Amino acid sequence: MTKDNFDKFVEELQKEIMEKELLDYNETIVKLFHNPQNWGKLPENEISVVQSYKGPCGDTMQYFLNIEDGVIKKASFITDGCGASVATASQTTMMITGKTLEYAEKLTAKDIDEKLNGLPEDHKHCAELSVRTLKKALNKYKKKVAKRK
Ligand code: FES
Repeated sequence: MTKDNFDKFVEELQKEIMEKELLDYNETIVKLFHNPQNWGKLPENEISVVQSYKGPCGDTMQYFLNIEDGVIKKASFITDGCGASVATASQTTMMITGKTLEYAEKLTAKDIDEKLNGLPEDHKHCAELSVRTLKKALNKYKKKVAKRK
């Protein structure tokens, strides 16, 4: 197979996969799990907090937040969860970047779900995993700050 033929084969295969995914998920979600935003670890420093959480489905998510003067400067994640969990964490990190801790604390799974134009019923809990991991990270940060005082 020539390189051109191989590239065409890969392109068609990706298109086929996306078409199948679009039967279960809307376009916003499919786009995000094919092109995740804020995926990966952030370097740790004195303004960072790292938090893992294992959700009821058994999947794990980890958040990396850089917080300065009550504002989330950077947010990223990694997860071994499903495609919907990648989309929900991407969406969550996009929504909280540049926002205050108060804003992030009030964020609900429903907010994430709505921003993603609706997760399928059997994947609503993936947004829950994202929000619970975020809340745990925020609590960890607050404890870290309280210790410093
Ligand atoms: Fe576990 Fe989606 S099925 S996070």
